[in-house]
Amino acid sequence: MTDSLLIIDFGSQVTQLIARRLRELHYFTEIVPSHSAQEALSDPAALADVKGIILSGGPQSVTEADTPRAPDAVFGSGVPVLGICYGQQTLCAQLGGRVEAGTSREFGAADITFTANSPLFDGLAELSGLTVWMSHGDHVSALPDGFDVIATSKGAPFAAIADETRRYYGVQFHPEVVHTEQGDRMLGNFASLICGCEAGWSMAAYKDEAIEAIRRQVGTKRVICGLSGGVDSSVTAKLLHEAIGDQLTCVFVDTGLMRGGEAEEVVSLFKGHYNMPLIHHDASKLFLDRLDGVTDPEQKRKIIGASFIEVFDAEASQIADAAFLAQGTLYPDVIESVSAAGGQAVTIKSHHNVGGLPDDMALELVEPLRMLFKDEVRALGTELGLPHSLVGRHPFPGPGLAIRIPGEITPEKLAILRAADALYLEEIRQAGLYDEIWQAFAVLLPVRTVGVMGDSRSYDYVCALRAVTSTDGMTAQAYLFDTEFLAKLSTRLINEVKGINRVVYDVTSKPPGTIEWE
Ligand code: XMP
Repeated sequence: MTDSLLIIDFGSQVTQLIARRLRELHYFTEIVPSHSAQEALSDPAALADVKGIILSGGPQSVTEADTPRAPDAVFGSGVPVLGICYGQQTLCAQLGGRVEAGTSREFGAADITFTANSPLFDGLAELSGLTVWMSHGDHVSALPDGFDVIATSKGAPFAAIADETRRYYGVQFHPEVVHTEQGDRMLGNFASLICGCEAGWSMAAYKDEAIEAIRRQVGTKRVICGLSGGVDSSVTAKLLHEAIGDQLTCVFVDTGLMRGGEAEEVVSLFKGHYNMPLIHHDASKLFLDRLDGVTDPEQKRKIIGASFIEVFDAEASQIADAAFLAQGTLYPDVIESVSAAGGQAVTIKSHHNVGGLPDDMALELVEPLRMLFKDEVRALGTELGLPHSLVGRHPFPGPGLAIRIPGEITPEKLAILRAADALYLEEIRQAGLYDEIWQAFAVLLPVRTVGVMGDSRSYDYVCALRAVTSTDGMTAQAYLFDTEFLAKLSTRLINEVKGINRVVYDVTSKPPGTIEWE
């Protein structure tokens, strides 16, 4: 077995980032919720490979009774412990120190100064201090016996503390977020220098473990997976197929709103090439009939979402012994579904994916990607042998081309948009820009303008081009092509795609714009 680090999760929004940073450094980590940590720690076999324990941050206050604590077994285990934020506070409180509720909260960047040498800061000696990211209300006000301060900040005199003998450490800031300078170095120091953990983790190892976990969860039952051809659902389907073979049935709903050749590609890759059981339901007529004459973006999204569920549900109910539904939920979806303020976020757009399936389907969820970020999903897809053309694909929204045709959707407009989009992406690929761009697509505007082609007048549609860079789709910047590229593209589009006589480029960032036009 591989050496590992155990993360006890007290509910911070960024706990998964601790695991992610350590995975990037090739350390294997496991996260257990604080309420089941006691149980996890009472299994000597499971603990055999644990070389260190990390206590995460959390939204609650150690100063209140009934808030979670680390099981005593953490401090009896003999392995090093690192407490982060709430984790530091509970570590102190449990070992005889004191924590006070803050009168002022500290959020955002803070400067820390090192006050002692510690292996936690190994390699940072040439610096006198660093900028770190804080997010706390409470703070430690008295240290337990055996602890020293190893870094301070204005708002947190005990910004980092250590008992080097027992190898217990605490930091008030969050080393796992990218805004903390050298945070990954500190986590790496804890894993290697303090815990003596071997860095043997890889995506190949993750794949094997995910396959084992799916087999344990599913047993001999049948699983349904909605396949859209996007990266997340494709990786989910391929992983499940490796784990349980023909116990998996994929359902591909063709909405008639896909890009050119997309439906054929998905079916030929998954059914033809990988030999997966795949139901291909061509529902294009249903979708287009229901969208006929609809112009309001939210109404379009609702019609598409509801129709999708109806078709998927009908197919799923034909698979008699299905007990599980597989979904490509990623970690950011898991975080975003729990609002920090505990409230409901404002709906900007009704996003559509298989997640909206009715409860009465009574299927248990299998979500093998819920620990991963998008780039890790791509790495897993590559590990599973999926082609780069698929794992490197730009995101494509569930409602498809319907939200790239503002106003009424007609078969004629869909055909124009498909042709324009294919040509645009072909040019981007040829220029070697595809992987630099987060998402690029064409939009067909409901506006006709006058042009002159040859010696005749034209009166045709306007095509808008969008390309953005982003890390997570939450914010985005317009990609700035050089003007020569845009000019050549515009000429090709107007010459080769019948129905367009003007091309415009969208330079709006998000916010205030969104990536899609509807
Ligand atoms: P917006 O337009 O909200 O999009 O800035 C952010 C990202 O999400 C994609 N998107 C969707 N994906 N179902 C999806 O699966 C949807 O309903 C949906 N709407 C937008 C969009 O393409 C971009 O990558």
